[in-house]
Amino acid sequence: MAETVHALILQGPNLNLLGSREPEIYGALSDRDLATLVGEWSRELGLETTLIQTNSEGELLDLVHGAAGRFDFLVVNPGALTHTSLALRDALAAISLPALEVHLSNIHAREEWRRQSWISSVCRGVLVGLGPLGYRLALEAGLVLVGGRNPGLPFGSKPSSISSPSP
Ligand code: DQA
Repeated sequence: MAETVHALILQGPNLNLLGSREPEIYGALSDRDLATLVGEWSRELGLETTLIQTNSEGELLDLVHGAAGRFDFLVVNPGALTHTSLALRDALAAISLPALEVHLSNIHAREEWRRQSWISSVCRGVLVGLGPLGYRLALEAGLVLVGGRNPGLPFGSKPSSISSPSP
């Protein structure tokens, strides 16, 4: 792929409070620190990224709608909207961009209601519980999904170096 891959990273409600919000769960990194890290990783990976945080569900939906045709893939941490927003699920399903769902915390190891994500089924991959590393891995995965990188790892198809077992 000759052109630069452009990813949109969407951060949902309360993620502007990173660093001060329940640091024992979400870590000490502020939203600015995360944006700095994402900027560094983007340069390293040769990606362009746009990171937007919003506390508004409507704005999040508009951003998803507007991403089609302007970005190559999405990385989405919808915060608590993960567990409530069918509208976000439908918005992601309506556009033809691959999306990766990221959660800083391991939502499966927390309250029962957090285990339900309405958006996982319309995302190509899900990264939970890895803190900021989840964003880095999502960017790498997105690059592979849009054909911008071949890390030489099995990713959906079997590499030719692995032969089929004999019957
Ligand atoms: C979160 C997990 C959600 O359950 C929570 O509401 C958030 C953050 C995470 O990144 O771990 O706001 O998405």
